[in-house]
Amino acid sequence: MKIQENISLKPLTTFGIDQKAEFFSVVSSLDELKEALTLSKQNQWAVFILGGGSNILLTRDIKGLVIKLEIKGITLVKEEKDQLLINVGAGELWHDLVQFSITQEWAGLENLSLIPGTVGASPMQNIGAYGVEIKDVFDSLQALHRETLEMHSFDSEACKFGYRESVFKQTLKDQYVITSVTLRLSKTPNYHLEYGAIREVLAANGIKQPSLRTISDAVIQIRQSKLPDPKEIGNAGSFFKNPTIPATQFETLKSAYPSIPGYPSTAGIKVAAGWLIEHAGWKGKRIGNVGVHAKQALVLVNYGDGTGEEIKALSQQIQADVAKKFGIDLQPEVNFI
Ligand code: EPU
Repeated sequence: MKIQENISLKPLTTFGIDQKAEFFSVVSSLDELKEALTLSKQNQWAVFILGGGSNILLTRDIKGLVIKLEIKGITLVKEEKDQLLINVGAGELWHDLVQFSITQEWAGLENLSLIPGTVGASPMQNIGAYGVEIKDVFDSLQALHRETLEMHSFDSEACKFGYRESVFKQTLKDQYVITSVTLRLSKTPNYHLEYGAIREVLAANGIKQPSLRTISDAVIQIRQSKLPDPKEIGNAGSFFKNPTIPATQFETLKSAYPSIPGYPSTAGIKVAAGWLIEHAGWKGKRIGNVGVHAKQALVLVNYGDGTGEEIKALSQQIQADVAKKFGIDLQPEVNFI
């Protein structure tokens, strides 16, 4: 295990923001991770765990040790008549796992194609897209306690999954390092085509009988048409969560703005934050080095040399305008560092 000093994190986060790690190490096994944590304790370094860097906004340099997790491997743990359990190393790229599962004809991940980031980060915020969330295919995860260096297993209930939420963003924040995730996939597909434009894209592609491959291709096509590629323009996907408001408030807004999209959820009506931002006049706006994506207003972008502070300031201006115009508080989905 090698420790480097004063390393720029610009290529390691999808926002492409140039902040530095005081110390930096890549770990590719559980033993190396334990070694890095022990060393940090001895030197009294703060520890920051980095996965794919696709859901963080760096507003400062990071003191202490940044550990880039590269624990790899996809193992078939158990095969039943209709289902199978796979264990996946935290450092595998999520999209690579999805593509591998499709080549194996394992169903369940196809709607989650092209989501950036690593497998280890995926349960942290219960990633989701096109009507499917990781909790729908989740069996358990394995995590190392940062202080005791003991391994613990968490089932779905222990993870307390919510909309872009889990216990690892709340009460257990910064206490564990997720080292692998066990997923329950299916040999018989159960397609989810009702959300968004999936059906239309399949039809436009001339697909009459969908398959895991053609659904994955359709999702990739939809995402590529709306979401900027972080390799070309810095971003972290959706910057805010879609807020849930009381039904009465939604009815009042609907009479003033008939086109406002809302979807019933357990706690009220979930409103499309992208619509709110667009109708507060922010879609496609640029302020210096940063801005709001022209094709999807929920995505904030870094045109190259933007700083975390600039993105943060932009997000606060958007929050203030949305609150003033619609009386709704937008909450960031991205983690500010
Ligand atoms: N909309 C607008 N203007 C915009 C953007 C969206 O009016 O600029 C409206 C659309 O008309 C549509 C609605 O908002 O009716 C929903 O838009 P979309 O289907 O693009 O999805 P989203 O709610 O904006 C969520 C997730 C995405 C996920 C998509 C598809 C969140 C915060 N975001 O976005 O996840 O890919 O649904 O399932 O829940 C991410 O978390 O990083 C992410 C990209």
